[in-house]
Amino acid sequence: MSATADVCVVIPAAGLGERLGLAQPKAFVGVNNWSLLSLTIKRVLEIQRVGHLIIAVPADFKNEALDHIDRAMRESNKKIPVDVVAGGITRTESVKNSLLALDQLDSYVLVHDAARPFVPAEVFNSVINKLDQGVKVVVPVIPVSDTIKTVNEKDEVINTLDRSQLKAVQTPQGFARDVLSEIYATSNLKPTTDDAGLAEIAGINVSTINGSVESFKITTPFDLEMATSFMNRKQNGK
Ligand code: C5P
Repeated sequence: MSATADVCVVIPAAGLGERLGLAQPKAFVGVNNWSLLSLTIKRVLEIQRVGHLIIAVPADFKNEALDHIDRAMRESNKKIPVDVVAGGITRTESVKNSLLALDQLDSYVLVHDAARPFVPAEVFNSVINKLDQGVKVVVPVIPVSDTIKTVNEKDEVINTLDRSQLKAVQTPQGFARDVLSEIYATSNLKPTTDDAGLAEIAGINVSTINGSVESFKITTPFDLEMATSFMNRKQNGK
């Protein structure tokens, strides 16, 4: 481990993945014999500055998670301290539970979805570089290619948003450790779909860096098919 392994990565992996319609929770679903969780861990272990992992899984999957972690670490030939915690009903609760396992040595915390196993290592490094510049919160974003409209409950269009101002937000989302602990410490925590959302509510500036189309989130059976083709293409060196 490098002398400055001061980055902790929190992996929320406790979602049930109901939109995938499979028997296991999403992070335990396989692509070419590797679970999304172990693929994600393998990618995270490529990042030199990462010295601690905290993984939130469904409470009754803690033991199974250890096997997936072991396999990823053996394959990567790198072992770092890992805490496996029970997730909550919402992603926000899963991250909140994870933060109880933070260590004094963790200067930065990067929260990365287990459902985005193909995130390029450069995106992690760009997030860390931005934090090194003194930014407190940073998220990867990509341009939106579709036109986005708001639609009411009767399925009628209300209006069209200005696409030039819209970005799709990904993970890993990076935080100075104390800032993340603080925004999650409020007692009436509002569930948000990402972590930076809580920083925005607290009035903290959120910076952006370029994300990647390769960080796509696996949500539907179609995404899983895409993941398999993507992995096969990468393995064939394309
Ligand atoms: O459901 P969605 O795909 O948006 O979830 C994003 C990530 O958050 C996934 O990796 C999922 O496992 C995780 N999650 C969680 N706890 C929940 C819900 C989702 O850790 N209760």
